[in-house]
Amino acid sequence: MDSAWIRHKRGEAEGDGNMRMYDLIMKKRNGGKLEEEEIDYMVKGFTSGEIPDYQMSAMMMAVYFNGMDEEETLYLTMAMAHSGDMLDLSGIRGLKVDKHSTGGVGDKTSLALAPMVAACGIKVAKMSGRGLGHTGGTIDKLESFPGFSTEIPKERFTENVNRIGIAIMGQTADLAPADKKLYALRDVTATVDNMSLIASSIMSKKLASGADAIVLDVKTGSGAFMKKEEDARALAEEMVKLGKNAGRKTVAVISDMDQPLGYAVGNALEVKEAIDTLSGNGPADFLELCLTLGSHMVVAGGMARDAAEAEKKLRQVIDDGSALRKLADFVEAQGGDREAVYHTELLPRAAYAEEIPSPGEGYVSRIACDEIGICSLMLGGGRETKESVIDLSVGLVLKKKVGDYVKAGETLAVLHGNDKGKMEAAAKRFMKSYEFSDRPVEKLPFIKAVIE
Ligand code: URA
Repeated sequence: MDSAWIRHKRGEAEGDGNMRMYDLIMKKRNGGKLEEEEIDYMVKGFTSGEIPDYQMSAMMMAVYFNGMDEEETLYLTMAMAHSGDMLDLSGIRGLKVDKHSTGGVGDKTSLALAPMVAACGIKVAKMSGRGLGHTGGTIDKLESFPGFSTEIPKERFTENVNRIGIAIMGQTADLAPADKKLYALRDVTATVDNMSLIASSIMSKKLASGADAIVLDVKTGSGAFMKKEEDARALAEEMVKLGKNAGRKTVAVISDMDQPLGYAVGNALEVKEAIDTLSGNGPADFLELCLTLGSHMVVAGGMARDAAEAEKKLRQVIDDGSALRKLADFVEAQGGDREAVYHTELLPRAAYAEEIPSPGEGYVSRIACDEIGICSLMLGGGRETKESVIDLSVGLVLKKKVGDYVKAGETLAVLHGNDKGKMEAAAKRFMKSYEFSDRPVEKLPFIKAVIE
């Protein structure tokens, strides 16, 4: 068979009309800039299967080395957003505000944040995923409520948002299918970690989900996708630019993920912590995150003039019980048992709870956040493959966090499990995840920056 270059010279290479993927790869390889119609052609061709994986892989590597400028990144984002369904939320009255997290250990934010902002009058029409990870995604966590389902028809989704302010459904297969295919390819060709590609991947899905405003929670630290703060900031800036260029109000908050968020890691355990937070008894870092993200959502949705006024409203809906009631209404509207919001013993519970004593004494100086996530996975709380079945009841509840003083033998965490063997293995791993110091350890700011 003739080489692609020979076929290209003879004018036989893939392409429609004058455009050829070969030429586009060469252009990018040589440091050129791709035009809007070239990116459209490439995304359409790749999604339909006309452009093969090997050519797209070469393109991604060329992008990896030569980058894309602001316009190219926007064209790629828009082309991927339009590669499938663009969710039509026009049947929902008022401004719709979405939130996205880049993910981390113990990240139960949507469970508390959505009811808080909805109680302030914001419309939350959200698509969420399950995904792979240390725990399930938001949908898995919500399924801790007996009967809860995210498989609701579009009409009911719209009606629920109009009536109670929140609805969450599973991500449809046709949401930004180009991104789905491209992300899978990048994952196996060492081309994931490029800012333009990551930003366009995340934002294409958010834009296709139809909200008027988007608040992004970009996490940084050992349990985050972006380990370094400067990388988290660069990603946040890129996504905010993209959102604005696409005509959506977009704000990004950079928050700490150098230790788990709150104390609970594991699906039903996190649901309980979110309920505690809505009841006014939440961990300080988690509450701070909900108030910060929530303030920007409430301002973006036009329900407060500034962040200070928004925060006051958010604190008010916790104090007067309306945020907790909103969660119960939302759970009930999607088939779940609202009683479990008020009686958390109705949530899935593991058979065993085992305390882990501290091996040392001193101030906790570091918690290997990703290791804590792996412990949850080992207990059965997450998915290693798409086919894995999650145990909603298992996980860990930390008792000490960075800066806390601990005596030898004092409880560092409680493991919740249904299998003694798995618990033993997770406990062994857990023991290596804490470090101690003789001297007091300074607690670093939890919110690192806000990018508007
Ligand atoms: N998450 C995404 O959705 N896309 C990326 O490229 C990286 C993380």
